[in-house]
Amino acid sequence: MIVVTTPTGQIGRKLVENLLDRGESVRVIVRDPARLADDIRQRVEIVVGTHSDPAALDAALPASDALFWLVPPDRTASSARQHYLDFARAATAAIRRHDVGHVVGISSAGHGWTDPAGVLSAAFAMDAELAASGAHYRALSLPFYLENLLGQLDWIRDQGAFALAAPADRPFATIATDDIARAAADLLTDRSWRGQEDVPVFGPDRLTPGEMAEVMSEELGRAVAYRAMTIDELASSMRAGGATDRAVRDTTEMFQAQLDGIYDADWAVAERASTDFRTWCRNVLEPRVVARTGIAS
Ligand SMILES: NC(=O)c1ccc[n+]([C@@H]2O[C@H](COP(=O)([O-])OP(=O)(O)OC[C@H]3O[C@@H](n4cnc5c(N)ncnc54)[C@H](OP(=O)(O)O)[C@@H]3O)[C@@H](O)[C@H]2O)c1
Repeated sequence: MIVVTTPTGQIGRKLVENLLDRGESVRVIVRDPARLADDIRQRVEIVVGTHSDPAALDAALPASDALFWLVPPDRTASSARQHYLDFARAATAAIRRHDVGHVVGISSAGHGWTDPAGVLSAAFAMDAELAASGAHYRALSLPFYLENLLGQLDWIRDQGAFALAAPADRPFATIATDDIARAAADLLTDRSWRGQEDVPVFGPDRLTPGEMAEVMSEELGRAVAYRAMTIDELASSMRAGGATDRAVRDTTEMFQAQLDGIYDADWAVAERASTDFRTWCRNVLEPRVVARTGIAS
């Protein structure tokens, strides 16, 4: 039995499908079962609740072989570190109570970085906490999700542009969430691994944002430009959107660490996932742009 947290999230949803396709038994912890797809709801065991709650974990973990662990993003959290640790401490205690053998966690690339890195440092603190459970643990160590770009769909469609807090001419590390789900499913089903390690997984490209804009333009059949944001511009736009000072700091420290090279060491040794940027644009981005415009590009 494999226990999956966040089964309605972009990674968790794909992971559950992948595990069921492989014939695995799956138990999910979900806040609202109605948010599961109908065909999935019929095929999984369901524990209703949140995975920061020891009672939900106690209902889900008995007789389980492995746990997929993901701390949900929470932009309203007073501190990213506190948010990750609150979830992780509940997990660690429950993993010990139920003697769960194998845990796969969603983390960030850049372990070993000692400067403050905001949300990334919070994920590393989560990993240390989970490792203290004594379970065999793999921290999937990931860069920027390509799906983050879907948050700029309207801008891509209406303005023909997208923006990141990264220089136009420096390779920008990314990964598609399909590939994350596949990597998690591989680890959760073949549990021959032992001990505790980080597993960096990166997309196969080394594109700069400028090159990403070229590929996007070709795949969408319309010009898309890249606009580099400064860290100060990012902070201002977050403040304008109502983010707290702490949230601004957690995010700007993260982007500054990326500019300073926090991903470089992991990128050099990472497992290469299969989905390149062009394939992602064709299979994920373009259909969504078409759905919004109603016009095939
Ligand atoms: N984005 C990046 O570039 C990046 C890079 C590296 C690592 N990460 C990490 O990846 C993770 C995000 O994964 P994702 O994109 O798959 O997430 P997502 O699509 O945003 O899904 C969030 C999931 O968490 C659930 N959830 C939200 N609040 C919850 C709560 N209080 N208690 C229990 N469940 C809750 C949601 O369920 P409902 O249906 O109930 O709302 C949903 O299933 C984060 O840990 C992030 O730090 C992100």
